[in-house]
Amino acid sequence: MHRTHNCGELRAKDEGTTVTIAGWTHAIRLHGRIAFIDVRDRYGITQATVGEDFADLTKDLKRESVIKITGVVKKKPQPNPRLATGEIEVVAEKFEVLNPAQPLPIEIEAENSDEIRLKYRYLDLRRPAMQHKLAMRDNVAASVRKHLRAMGFLEIETPLLVKSTPEGARDYVVPSRIHHGTFYALPQSPQLYKQLLMVSGCDRYFQLAKCLRDEDLRMDRQPEFTQIDVEMSFVEQDDVLSAGERLVHNVVKDVKSVDVPLPLRRISYEESMDRYGCDKPDLRFGLELTDVTYIVKSSDFKIFSEAQLVKCLVVPKLLGRKEIDRYTEFAKANKAKGLAYVNVLADGKTLDGGVAKFLTPDMQASIIEASGAKPEQTILFVADAKKACNEALSKLRNLLGKELSLYDPKALAFCWVVDFPLFEWDDDTQDWTPAHHMFTMPRPEHLQYLRTEPGKVVAQCYDLVLNGVEMASGSIRVHRQDIQREIMTAMNISEEQAKVKFGFLLEAFTYGAPPHGGFAIGFDRFVAMLEQEADIREFIAFPKNKSAECPMDGSPSLVDAKQLDDLGLALKKL
Ligand code: AMO
Ligand code: AMP
Repeated sequence: MHRTHNCGELRAKDEGTTVTIAGWTHAIRLHGRIAFIDVRDRYGITQATVGEDFADLTKDLKRESVIKITGVVKKKPQPNPRLATGEIEVVAEKFEVLNPAQPLPIEIEAENSDEIRLKYRYLDLRRPAMQHKLAMRDNVAASVRKHLRAMGFLEIETPLLVKSTPEGARDYVVPSRIHHGTFYALPQSPQLYKQLLMVSGCDRYFQLAKCLRDEDLRMDRQPEFTQIDVEMSFVEQDDVLSAGERLVHNVVKDVKSVDVPLPLRRISYEESMDRYGCDKPDLRFGLELTDVTYIVKSSDFKIFSEAQLVKCLVVPKLLGRKEIDRYTEFAKANKAKGLAYVNVLADGKTLDGGVAKFLTPDMQASIIEASGAKPEQTILFVADAKKACNEALSKLRNLLGKELSLYDPKALAFCWVVDFPLFEWDDDTQDWTPAHHMFTMPRPEHLQYLRTEPGKVVAQCYDLVLNGVEMASGSIRVHRQDIQREIMTAMNISEEQAKVKFGFLLEAFTYGAPPHGGFAIGFDRFVAMLEQEADIREFIAFPKNKSAECPMDGSPSLVDAKQLDDLGLALKKL
């Protein structure tokens, strides 16, 4: 070993011991020919005094050079309270530069741009903050494994070269060299394979699974990400939810020492849309939406009386003109046609300003009552088609929650959103598409609507939401071929097409498939949210940038002609 101790472990009790430490030159201060060096590794920083015997080596020593010091531990006359090792220093008897660093292309601790941080990720990761994040991720993974094993789950790997799985995003494809013209897909999730493991009798499966999706990226989306993927046999929805929330509870307890109260709140999709305008409600704060369509139906204000839906939210203070303008712009940027407002007067019964003049005294009183508005508060309205109205107001709700500090940013508000519709209407394809995926079981009493009114079918499908972010999704699966076929018919997928796409799954279901269901937690999101970080890249060692490139290794990149040839591929001229 190049060391006897790491840079985080020496204390006053070690005084007098001869030790060897090794690490990176975090900082160096020269006092004449004596050097004071902070030596850093993953475990911490230890200060060393390197005397004049080594002045020739230390005088030109560059930061981040890798060094090795053997010396005696000495108590510092004045401890450094900012370091865990601050009581001591190592007085060098031997000093060696194991590898001198060139001047660095970036100042590691500076505020570097995302692109630079990704280009020199190996340097960025040297920062103690990043080391902490990697350790945190490892901690969560270890806890997940511990608890799932204790609950009887087996960790089973599924293949990365698969047949395209219909999860809804675009596939990454891999050309086959042996079978020219054919392709593997990289899995968007292990969905079909975990269902097959249930057919195999594995009963309880989990995997920290790599998922790959070629989709538009955002802060909480990467082309490669990891799921805590879970599947169970002989279960109903409640069993899966309770296993899922127990896992979350135990992991949060392990890594954050926080007791998430169980059972988690369960909100139906419909209630969530009504009260929060979205299916991912941030329950750290109230600020609920109120439907006032029926109250303003007979108003002279056409924008209100003619709209499909008019909803409002009550700001817990009076907004000034400038703030109203800013929120109006925000609502418009989120597809609302406008934002109307009124202020509640001090009497608590009358509205004033904005669109108040279009509202009769009765309407005003009803709006105040329905919304629970108090004196000296502003009410904001959006009138529009249902979708646009909900979308704009839910975004506005989240913005107001943040800007008005309506919640403790450290709070963890989990809930299950349940009873999603099985299908949603896709304007692009003019067809029904699965709201989750097509292996989701409808409620038994809704099977009758599959052919006639697909929009009415409620699925046994659920999302786990944390602070307004979708953390996990899952469902009870269709394990019977006849129902699966009905669903495909509703989606206009012919038996022929189904056979080509996932015939292997449908066939497996004919040989004895148990009832089963499961879920997948977005692991990167989960870890990031536990640390109040919105950007999941902070918790991924080597993430891609927003254009799905890796600035460090330069991927994606060209391959040579021979490789293309072997694969039987030729590039189209663009
Ligand atoms: P779904 O597609 O909803 O479900 O994914 C489950 C969870 O994975 C996370 N997630 C992502 N995280 C980072 N980057 C992405 N691009 C990304 N996409 C999704 C989210 C999401 O809630 N097979 C089903 C699960 C099941 O039914 O068991 C599935 O993959 O947190
Ligand atoms: P206008 O008559 O277009 O000047 O709008 C009058 C007020 O109503 C302005 O404050 C607009 O921002 C607001 N407004 C316009 N369209 C809508 C809408 N669809 N929902 C809510 N408010 C609106």
